[in-house]
Amino acid sequence: MPSSSSLNLVSAAGATTGPDWWRQAAVYQIYPRSFSDSNGDGIGDLKGITAKVPYLQALGIDAVWLSPFYPSALADGGYDVDDYRNVDPKLGTLADFDEMTAALHAAGIKLIADIVPNHSSNRHEWFKEALAAPKGSAARARYIFRDGLGKDGEVPPSDWDSKFGGPAWERIIEADGTPGQWYMHIFAKEQPDFNWDNPEVREDFLTTLKFWSDRGVDGFRIDVAHALVKDLSEPLPSKAELPVEGTGADGLADGSHPFWDRDDVHGIYAEWRKLFNQYTPPRTAVAEAWVHASRRARYASPEGLGQAFNFDLLQADFDADAFRSIITKNLAEAEATGASSTWVFSNHDVVRHATRYGLPAGSGRHGQDWLRQGGSASAVDTELGLARARAASLLMFALPGSAYLYQGEELGLQEVGCIADSARQDPAFFRNPGVDIGRDGCRVPLPWTSEGTSFGFGDGGAHLPQPEWFAGYAVDAQENVEDSTLEFYREALLYRRHLQSAEQLKWVRADASVLHFSRPNGWQSVTNFGSGLVELPAGTVILSSGPLEGGKLPRNTTAWIV
Ligand code: GLC
Ligand code: CA
Repeated sequence: MPSSSSLNLVSAAGATTGPDWWRQAAVYQIYPRSFSDSNGDGIGDLKGITAKVPYLQALGIDAVWLSPFYPSALADGGYDVDDYRNVDPKLGTLADFDEMTAALHAAGIKLIADIVPNHSSNRHEWFKEALAAPKGSAARARYIFRDGLGKDGEVPPSDWDSKFGGPAWERIIEADGTPGQWYMHIFAKEQPDFNWDNPEVREDFLTTLKFWSDRGVDGFRIDVAHALVKDLSEPLPSKAELPVEGTGADGLADGSHPFWDRDDVHGIYAEWRKLFNQYTPPRTAVAEAWVHASRRARYASPEGLGQAFNFDLLQADFDADAFRSIITKNLAEAEATGASSTWVFSNHDVVRHATRYGLPAGSGRHGQDWLRQGGSASAVDTELGLARARAASLLMFALPGSAYLYQGEELGLQEVGCIADSARQDPAFFRNPGVDIGRDGCRVPLPWTSEGTSFGFGDGGAHLPQPEWFAGYAVDAQENVEDSTLEFYREALLYRRHLQSAEQLKWVRADASVLHFSRPNGWQSVTNFGSGLVELPAGTVILSSGPLEGGKLPRNTTAWIV
């Protein structure tokens, strides 16, 4: 640890207490089915998480973001929710949830729950009621039902595609056994979209948010936050008439799309904010909103959710210019709105960054082509990928704002590219044959031990097959091993907590090969994106993502200096 005389240190505990705990938190995403299995049924569960709280505490995170744990048939890994105010019996009970929350809190770790408001599952009570009720009924008005076109209504109301491929409309069989109306689903057909024009839907989500807030949940991650409000006035435009969405941060700048990022969605979040602010400390929220960068701030405003994911770094190559402009732009945006920035490289929807950075040219920007070509592990330069991933993560941990980590990245875990078709689970794979291989490769259960059944994940196998090479990434192979990725993350997070300072950054050097910045308390981060060795500034090197060479910073490496 650097001496307190040279730095303006905040106490370790101070970093996560107070109403602003979220502004610069290190948040660890747990995908519960793949984290730790306590009862040997092959599926991770809440008791498994509780048992690993000491691990999470030793890692040094401030909060856990828990992906959906609600009753679900897992048509989309739990993002198809049957009941918003309960725990999936496969994962445990509400009592287990309370126990887990208490254990996290006792360890000084906050809990962020994933809320999925755009759609329920097709097994939700309301959807079952809608199917049983007649056309035009109040039960149908909670979802988006329309008559079909054509002679017998056999043609979907529009030719829109769903996100996972295939049509965005599904025809139902009416209670009398005849083919009937169609319902809209932006994602899988097991995920019918709610009608957010319906006050009952709005009321019910407030009840859900209150339910979990009362149980001690500290914040919420809002799934597809930008899709809730839709303009479905007739006639519906055809696919060809829809404004071009673009992808990710290239979404529309004007909110004119009929179902993405409409201005009125913010009315919902203003209501949520009022509820959140009734708690002490106020509940926090972060929007998952793949919108045009110029429109992200609205989700993150203090009158709205407070924070929004910024996926820009996750979508960028390991490139100094790209990183610099993304960082500068996002910090300016955060400052202008009063939000704090968010940073993320990996989550349950993308190829792990230790793999992305080690893929050969022609693998597709985010590894999609590599996956389509079979996802062979031998095609990946894992050493390069991991070196860059560690350098990128260390840079991220020094940035003002909150850092989101995905389970397993602290182990340097690689994507499992190669999974037998018969073992795959992601609807994106099934709905879009040959085009989308899906996201199962980052959802393979974690290796805790280098030997034993399912590498210590549980006693009864793993719901997605773990490759043999997982052994080398296991927690027990890295714990107390100097320079292992796990020990590196632990050190980085510990220093980060001690060094955290005002949400500002000053560039010292930013060119095509080096990004060097400092924080107001003198904490400096230098990353070498180029090919030569880089001279480090005066001061003490407290941590580096890889070994220095003769005191200099080699390529694909980050160092912290105080
Ligand atoms: C979000 C989730 C993703 C899910 C989708 C539909 O993008 O991150 O995993 O499939 O929403 O709920
Ligand atoms: Ca289990």
